[in-house]
Amino acid sequence: MTKRIPIIGGNWKMNTNLESGMLLAGAIADQADTCECCEVVVYPPFLYIQAVDSVIDQTSLHLGAQNIWHEPSGAFTGEVSGAMLREVGATSVIIGHSERRHILGESAELISQKMEYSIKDGFQTVLCVGETLEEREAGKTVEVVLGQVKSGLQHVHASKMEMVVIAYEPVWAIGTGKTASPDDAQNVHKEIRECVRGLYDETIANTLRIQYGGSVKPDNAAELFACPDIDGALVGGASLSADSFNAIVTAACES
Ligand code: 13P
Repeated sequence: MTKRIPIIGGNWKMNTNLESGMLLAGAIADQADTCECCEVVVYPPFLYIQAVDSVIDQTSLHLGAQNIWHEPSGAFTGEVSGAMLREVGATSVIIGHSERRHILGESAELISQKMEYSIKDGFQTVLCVGETLEEREAGKTVEVVLGQVKSGLQHVHASKMEMVVIAYEPVWAIGTGKTASPDDAQNVHKEIRECVRGLYDETIANTLRIQYGGSVKPDNAAELFACPDIDGALVGGASLSADSFNAIVTAACES
């Protein structure tokens, strides 16, 4: 079986301030430096990326952005390009987060354009997918999630798939304290991997990392990471405390 290095992301969303973000990053970097068995990435708000980079520059903690725009420059008020992100130290980008799909109204078409651009621009690119409660209750989880996977990857060539991570984040589990059961999450992750096998090939499917996201906490992380197709987590609320985030990293190392 292919050994995949777990990836634990801390999506800070619109939280922290300059000082607390730098302190948080420093405490996470201290732990990341002691752990070689998983990849750890933090995604601060755009404005703090440069300051966080100054704290973690010489450490093994990776740095990312919560969004990107799919043009290199121009009249796009309020947007941020790949070149700008790279200049301040980001190497990873989250695309298609449910808050951007559902609160900011990002379309599947826009998300696939951003995927193409982010990868061309050299970023590790995390494609977020996930069903709403309504879709889940209508029995459409797999249909919705695989539709988002296919659409998000439509412009991604096989040779670039090593830059892609998929995050399965059921919308009803985000910030609610409700987590998908390990069996339910494993089932969706397996479907995603099978879908990628069909879109690309066996090797790409076996090496692709699929994170779970949605109320991951120190006390539920280990049982999620024990599932064969769950390769880490994208963590929201619990990534805002170094103690809880570091405990999740430890659980991934021990899985
Ligand atoms: P919570 O961990 O707060 O549920 O957020 C998950 C998430 O949206 C990570 O991107």
